[in-house]
Amino acid sequence: MALRFSGRLRTTWRTGPRSSVSTRVMAAQDKVRAMAEINTVGVVGGGLMGHGIAQVSAQSGCEVVLREVDEPMLGKAIGMIEKQLARAVEKGRSSQADADAVRGRIDGSVDYGALADCDLVIEAATEDLEGKLAMWREVDDIVKDAAIFATNTSSLPVIAQAAQTKRPDRFLGLHFFNPAQVMKLLEVVRCVTTSAETVATGVEWGQKLGKVTVVTQDKAGFIVNRLLVPYLLDGMRAYEENVGTIAEIDNAMKAGAGHPMGPLTLADFVGLDTLSAISDIMFEEFREKRFARPPLLRKMLMAGWYGRKSGMGFYDYSGDTPVPNAQISLPA
Ligand code: CAA
Repeated sequence: MALRFSGRLRTTWRTGPRSSVSTRVMAAQDKVRAMAEINTVGVVGGGLMGHGIAQVSAQSGCEVVLREVDEPMLGKAIGMIEKQLARAVEKGRSSQADADAVRGRIDGSVDYGALADCDLVIEAATEDLEGKLAMWREVDDIVKDAAIFATNTSSLPVIAQAAQTKRPDRFLGLHFFNPAQVMKLLEVVRCVTTSAETVATGVEWGQKLGKVTVVTQDKAGFIVNRLLVPYLLDGMRAYEENVGTIAEIDNAMKAGAGHPMGPLTLADFVGLDTLSAISDIMFEEFREKRFARPPLLRKMLMAGWYGRKSGMGFYDYSGDTPVPNAQISLPA
């Protein structure tokens, strides 16, 4: 069913730019046909990324099954989606009827069985390979054979998950960016077993979502995190070395490089625990200092400061406006 959102939101949700990169990829594949139309999407994990992926999928007209581990977690995920939909109505970017239609296309479940008829299943669970493998072993037996599986991993090898399933040719990486409802990019990751048809299907589905699709190889961090993670860690190192205060470093990168957020704000936004897990995986893969976690990051995690989601990171989020975390003490 087509969406009828008005104004800016329609532009964002329905008609995002078609990238020249993805256009070239399609041409280069000499019209490799997509495997199947994706009408029903399963999303495993409804956290920061999963709820956004579920929302954009439903906004594109797909039926969505969102799976979480238990009812409270599922309620939280659905609540985040409803909040975003309500915000769109409040701002006049969507009618109530259209927001209701999007919400109506999303079914929540704590049961993997609900994924059985999905055309595409995307996992957006914690960056823990063992947990993801256990999930795929279970889901592989339940979901119809023709379905495509995808991981939203930001740094783990896609092949490690593909090889655990009975459909390694129909397995790829679909890497979204936070917030998935807003960020335009979708990295489509081809691992050594992914078929050309599966890549074409991933690209086509990304375009249906209005995303800019870029096909990339299965190397830790793909394109964006390969470049972004060392930058964020360097922002922390600059702070550790007293190059500037938290606010000065962030303001400098916003005003001097035109970034929407400074590196320390963005690190908090991504989640310091997530960033730490990604940098560990990338350090393990490349053995290069630029991917190593700075000591300050380790200490902040020990203090339970995970960034915006925990209320404390480089900034303190307890008030109306975030302020630099006054409790971080650096040696003079
Ligand atoms: N969900 C849905 N919509 C959201 C949202 C969310 N969580 N956060 C913001 N938005 C929407 C708002 O509704 C708003 O829409 P309108 O302008 O149509 O009203 C729009 O985004 C702008 O939001 P705000 O005015 O509240 O705030 P802003 O102008 O500061 O933009 C931002 C917020 C879009 C997040 C912007 O600061 C930004 O682009 N930051 C950089 C984010 C980034 O780099 N993300 C990638 C992280 S790396 C990653 O994800 C990969 C990984 O593996 C770690």
